[in-house]
Amino acid sequence: MASSALLDVLKGKMPGRRPLWFMRQAGRYLPEYREVRAKAGSFLKLCYTPELAKEVTLQPLRRFDLDAAIIFADILVVPQAMGLGLSFADGEGPVVEKVSGPEGVAALRPVDEAEEVQLVCETVSQVKASLSKDIALIGFCGAPWTVASYMIGGGGEGGREAARAVALAGPQWFAELMQRLVDASVAYLVRQVDAGAEVVQIFDSWAGDLPGYAQQDLVGKPIAAILSRLRKERPGVPAIVFARGAGAGHRMIGEMTKAEGLSVETSMPLDWARDHLAGRHVVQGNLDPLVVEQGGGALEAGVRQVAGILPKQHHIFNLGHGMRPGTSPAHVDSVVKAVRRLDG
Ligand code: CP3
Repeated sequence: MASSALLDVLKGKMPGRRPLWFMRQAGRYLPEYREVRAKAGSFLKLCYTPELAKEVTLQPLRRFDLDAAIIFADILVVPQAMGLGLSFADGEGPVVEKVSGPEGVAALRPVDEAEEVQLVCETVSQVKASLSKDIALIGFCGAPWTVASYMIGGGGEGGREAARAVALAGPQWFAELMQRLVDASVAYLVRQVDAGAEVVQIFDSWAGDLPGYAQQDLVGKPIAAILSRLRKERPGVPAIVFARGAGAGHRMIGEMTKAEGLSVETSMPLDWARDHLAGRHVVQGNLDPLVVEQGGGALEAGVRQVAGILPKQHHIFNLGHGMRPGTSPAHVDSVVKAVRRLDG
């Protein structure tokens, strides 16, 4: 069986073809996902029922010729495993129980023994057992800043601004919260690797909320701390960092974290990424999820733009953010076929 194109590029080898997967490749745009989610009763029930989470992890791979599976879970599993309440209101965002001072941080639990972590890792091992060797299995967690942003802001209206205000004021309890999240992320990723994850991605979705001067301390440093500990504890597992909205900050974040892959947002000009990131890092991205939803000529042009700039040994084809729930699966199929066609 061939090796995985995704692992090959991340390990600096020439891949057999351009690696391709999509953020939120499992999800509401697939009718078969909606069916399983209805059966589960709620999104969180789905995340914590390994047989069902395995099924939705594998669904996109049955339809599309992809190079990776990403474990079906959420970045907010970690705050829940630390003891905070979590719910998802239908059609709205997450609602996270807030932390607002030193007592709240002190009450947080380590995640090692948490049932939530065990259940996600059970999904990882079940998926791993049924994946062919040429499909890489991606484990993930949220980055400390983004997860802290949810824990402070609660996920609702105005929450991100409230979290940013705390981060920039910099009380001691915020520093402790970030440290607890570094520890929890290492423990969680180590468990995922032991269960079968071959690559890890760290999602810093709200990196772009921060002023540029704060990216080093709040994005680069905590992610670097996670990855250096992960490399010591489980050597040889490549990492992809998605500091969404970091712009030119991706270069500093790449230098600090030494991530094998850097995922870049839709607004990043890929020629800049080619000139400043590629060679030292594999660049992942960054087709606009909107053109996938739209389809037609915009989709074809988007794929040509993205795949035309970076050669396959420096690129992982992906979106600049997650798949939109209204996307037609036929359009996703068109993207996959267009990528394969362009690479001959
Ligand atoms: O296919 C995959 O990418 C794997 C599964 C995955 C989900 N969330 C499933 C999900 C992954 C990797 C995530 C990461 C995640 N979760 C991020 C980082 C990436 C990003 O989008 O920036 C963030 C910020 C979250 C937090 C989160 N989870 C939000 C804000 C929401 C609500 C918005 C929305 O899309 O509904 C979720 C819910 C969520 N996570 C869904 C899925 C499939 C939708 C749940 C449903 O079925 O209703």
